[in-house]
Amino acid sequence: MAAIAGRVCVTVVLLVCVLGGQALDLLMGTTTSGSSPSTPTVRCRCASYPNVTLCSWPEPPHHPPTHYVATYSERHRQSVTKHCHLIQPGSSSSDVISASSSSSDRLWHCHMPSLKLLTDYIINVTAVYSGSSSFHLSSFMLEDIVKPDPPVDVTVSPRDSKRLLLQWSPPPTWAHLDIFPLKYQIKYQRESRGIPRSYNLGPIESNWVVLKLKPGAYLFQVCAKELLNLGECSDWSSPVKN
Ligand SMILES: *[C@@H]1O[C@H](CO)[C@@H](O)[C@H](O)[C@H]1NC(C)=O
Ligand SMILES: *[C@@H]1O[C@H](CO)[C@@H](O)[C@H](O)[C@H]1NC(C)=O
Repeated sequence: MAAIAGRVCVTVVLLVCVLGGQALDLLMGTTTSGSSPSTPTVRCRCASYPNVTLCSWPEPPHHPPTHYVATYSERHRQSVTKHCHLIQPGSSSSDVISASSSSSDRLWHCHMPSLKLLTDYIINVTAVYSGSSSFHLSSFMLEDIVKPDPPVDVTVSPRDSKRLLLQWSPPPTWAHLDIFPLKYQIKYQRESRGIPRSYNLGPIESNWVVLKLKPGAYLFQVCAKELLNLGECSDWSSPVKN
């Protein structure tokens, strides 16, 4: 084995990248001796308020790290760090992993239970290689990263000669619908040359809407949002046709 001695470099990149509703990248860094491994790119999302917050990052395909260490803390109490519970790619204990992680990457996840609102959190995901490590720090607030999975079982049927009934079920991964209800947004457009139109439904939870539209073939989609406007609407459900 070739040992590379005497060359240890520390690279620190300060990144400020604010995207609506995304975790904020704070700092990434590498401590290497030899080749420079890639820092994990971490994304965090709460798919079921309040207890299912996952941060995820892709495993690099060619030189996977020997292991990861993921810790988190409140920004104002950084001395108190907790371990984020790691879930390997393709792991069967992935019942908390949301259905919509459709990416083809092999994703690592880590799970943080019962986070608090109005609290700035910092997560440090460190990839450990033989002889080097690289970390990624992100910051988030729970109310910004709430994003349910899309509604399921979306159907559209004629209600009478002029009206259509659009129905759906809430995302099954949203565990506490009784305490934290969802509201919905619908989008429809003509199948050909359609301009999409969308509507916010609410303020109370409802799993159906009756639409009066000009005759024709339309595509319908639904997204789900926490009733009190925490975070953002889910991805759109796949389109269904009347
Ligand atoms: C969230 O987790 C905490 C601690 O595990 C538990 O006490 C609380 O009841 C959970 N909340 C919900 C809504 O499940
Ligand atoms: C991130 O975590 C690693 C491993 O626990 C630690 O060595 C490193 O100092 C941490 N980085 C920062 C900036 O807190």
